[in-house]
Amino acid sequence: MIKLGDVFPDFKAETSRGPIQFHEWLGDSWGLLFSHPADFTPVCTTELGRVAQLQGKFEEKNVKLIALSCDGVDTHRKWIEDIKAYSKIEKFSYPIIADEKRELAVQLGMIDPDEKDAAGMPLTCRAVFFIGPDKKLKLSLLYPATTGRNFDEILRAIDSVQLTARYKVATPADWQHGTYCMVLPTVRDDELEALFPKGVEKHAMPSGKDYLRMTPCPQKK
Ligand code: BEZ
Repeated sequence: MIKLGDVFPDFKAETSRGPIQFHEWLGDSWGLLFSHPADFTPVCTTELGRVAQLQGKFEEKNVKLIALSCDGVDTHRKWIEDIKAYSKIEKFSYPIIADEKRELAVQLGMIDPDEKDAAGMPLTCRAVFFIGPDKKLKLSLLYPATTGRNFDEILRAIDSVQLTARYKVATPADWQHGTYCMVLPTVRDDELEALFPKGVEKHAMPSGKDYLRMTPCPQKK
């Protein structure tokens, strides 16, 4: 099972857009790999369509997209036509990995033991892996096969991961890009002025401890 901070496996795979070697395909970009139980399934169709609709927003953040589904390349290509029609999109340009033998699904810990296909085989769950330009895993999510993901939330989380990779801040509950951030607990008071020229506000707590330090978002959208 891959853990946060691990180098993501540099696998070889067939995709709907030709063979890839994962690290080479990623290049210097960030990458979002998201998995699906099977082609021609209703929830997956909505998810892949939604990601295609949002592709421009991922590209603005320098994030390359790649899906994975446990069927072959020919099936993927036929399914893409359904996804385009259902989601009313002209273009579907990110690759779908063909993981017919579920080798990657097993290697990456993506099996959902509670959902089985007609032959009784456990399905691949809905996993999300966000990988940095250093090829290390920065964020992961595992949803069961029966729960579709919210890709606006994934974009929001990507904003946080990318921001907190650059600045000594963390983002609070329900944070949206551009709103107040929290200064990292490891930053000393004598460092605040130099690190946060926009200012820092300390929230008074009953405990008298100064741990909740807010600063305007250090980065414009
Ligand atoms: C779906 O994509 O609709 C789906 C796939 C497997 C199990 C449940 C739902």
